[in-house]
Amino acid sequence: MIGIGAGDPEQLTLQAVRALRDTDVFFILDKGEVKSDLTGLRRDLLDAHVPEGTYRVVEARDPERDRSAGGAAYSPAVGDWRSARAGIYARLIAEELDEDETGAFLVWGDPALYDSTLAILEEVLASGAVDFAYDVVPGISSVSSLAARHRTGLNRVARPVQITTGRRLAEGFPQGVDDVVVMLDAHQGFRRYAGEDIDIFWGAYLGTPDEILVSGPIAEAAPEIERLRAEARERKGWIMDTYLLRRNPRER
Ligand SMILES: C[S@@+](CC[C@H](N)C(=O)[O-])C[C@H]1O[C@@H](n2cnc3c(N)ncnc32)[C@H](O)[C@@H]1O
Repeated sequence: MIGIGAGDPEQLTLQAVRALRDTDVFFILDKGEVKSDLTGLRRDLLDAHVPEGTYRVVEARDPERDRSAGGAAYSPAVGDWRSARAGIYARLIAEELDEDETGAFLVWGDPALYDSTLAILEEVLASGAVDFAYDVVPGISSVSSLAARHRTGLNRVARPVQITTGRRLAEGFPQGVDDVVVMLDAHQGFRRYAGEDIDIFWGAYLGTPDEILVSGPIAEAAPEIERLRAEARERKGWIMDTYLLRRNPRER
């Protein structure tokens, strides 16, 4: 499992490049037409770093996830989806790899952050359907990329930072922290904090030629982000964005 960074072919580690070059078969799971740009980006990474003709690419269709399932139904829907993916991964490994070959799953950013590939491979191993050994190569996450592009840290001196999802942010600003990184937010959860003394550092398509960055007090930045986000989504058909919310110290 190779972490390939947020999209910039120069944000692969030397370890990742070495692992790419040691791979016989790359498994690329496509989520359909809309996300085919992402498949293209992965192929660009391979073109940039691995000599042609030294590997095979096997593409498969990712099963659709039931995104309508909210509340209590959320976890089972994710569970079903993982199991469906586990079946596909097991077949790919069993049918597309010879005994002495090495396969690789390319994971956006860092495999340790909001990615289910690790859990899926463990599920495949636990099922006994196919046996294999694997290593994880860390990658530069979209969170690291966001902080670097905005030339800011994630935490303030000796203070914590929390990484969470848009779904969680919709339930309220996390307790006990003033610096919060939000991922997987389809509903622009930052908007509900526009009346507070919070700065936002927002980035979309980080590390790609389409990258967009906006930062500033949330009251001013939120409308601009909404506009840019809607335009980009319309133009490309999909969007991936991440942001840091930084609450300023309150008067005591
Ligand atoms: C399933 S998570 C995967 C995160 C990934 N493992 C990482 O380390 O960045 C997908 C979320 O990551 C964020 N993300 C991933 N790539 C991004 C990029 N190039 N630009 C902005 N956000 C990105 C978005 O918040 C997106 O909803």
